[in-house]
Amino acid sequence: MRQSGEKPPVMAKGFHRVAQVSQVLPGQAKVVRVADREIALCNVGGRFYAIANICTHDGGSLDQGELTGHVIECPRHGAQFNVKTGEVVRAPALVPLKTYEARVQGDDVEVGLEA
Ligand code: FES
Repeated sequence: MRQSGEKPPVMAKGFHRVAQVSQVLPGQAKVVRVADREIALCNVGGRFYAIANICTHDGGSLDQGELTGHVIECPRHGAQFNVKTGEVVRAPALVPLKTYEARVQGDDVEVGLEA
């Protein structure tokens, strides 16, 4: 039980509905916010992947970049990341992106947050 004056947890564990399937077409990325996180939801041929939206190089917004197959390119300096794994495909970024589980439930896309 929560003590009075104690803040509620900022992030809820589990899956969160973030978009409708029709809102993110194949080859597109859309930024969504879950709790305090900015996540890029990517549609690769009808499969959804969720990655941190902020480039690990210098803060570029990856949803503004080009998604080609499983690779998204940062619009700022051209770093590339694999949206399935978060791995860096091309510098100047060196640090991989955080990835999240994404799933389709009916017409909705949900993203899972860990504890
Ligand atoms: S901020 Fe993304 S490549 Fe520099």
